[in-house]
Amino acid sequence: MPKDPHTDVQAGPKHVAIIMDGNGRWAQARGRPRLFGHHAGARRVREVVEACPGLGIKYLTVFAFSTENWKRTQVEVAGLMSLFRRYIIKETRTLAENGIRVRFIGDRVRLDAKLIDLMDSLEEATKDNDLVHLTVALNYGGRDEVARATKRLARDVAEGRLKPEDVDEETLPKYLDTRVLPDPDLVIRTSGEARISNFLLWQSAYSEYEFIDTLWPDFTAAELERLCRNYGARERRFGAVLA
Ligand code: FPP
Repeated sequence: MPKDPHTDVQAGPKHVAIIMDGNGRWAQARGRPRLFGHHAGARRVREVVEACPGLGIKYLTVFAFSTENWKRTQVEVAGLMSLFRRYIIKETRTLAENGIRVRFIGDRVRLDAKLIDLMDSLEEATKDNDLVHLTVALNYGGRDEVARATKRLARDVAEGRLKPEDVDEETLPKYLDTRVLPDPDLVIRTSGEARISNFLLWQSAYSEYEFIDTLWPDFTAAELERLCRNYGARERRFGAVLA
């Protein structure tokens, strides 16, 4: 049966996850330091969040800093941490007033106390919002998340709260950082690399992927809309054969 284009738009992704790659190359192409690219990238986050309600996107998850990113130079790591602090301070009011609920996923242990306080206060300031759920992955790695979840699960078994024979596919997700979120429908990676780089490993088992050449600081709401339409035009079968 031919697809009704209107239905296709409605069938757009409810949860979009983005690997925001290419900030460094964008800056280098302009003869500027890599942090210049990260600042430009942070401005794009706002544009993309603002576009979500109009596109029917209820959940947006962005990869801001991976467990592997600590290997970058001390200058870049410190610059990114400072950018996150400043971003939270600057954006809290707008996010809170615009109905955005913000959550952070990832391991907080290596983050500095000031940043953790700011993350907590942003989560608290937006906790009653429900228009768009923005999740920021910060010191996040998919394998690290599964390892931390398994540790918690093992503790519940050891302390008698969970029986090993009751562990199934529904159990582990309840221990993941993303336990309150649906799985992503669409994962986008910018800047031409076709890798998932340890992002949402468990959660993206059935996600659609879009690998696009645009560098993250050049990504626009119009491009997001195009990718959402592509998604709406595809059938997801989850391994089944549709009639
Ligand atoms: C990857 O580009 C990007 C990052 C490691 C940082 C992402 C951070 C932001 C977009 C800034 C702020 C985000 C929030 C939520 C405030 P890259 O440095 O790997 O680029 P390259 O591949 O060109 O070197």
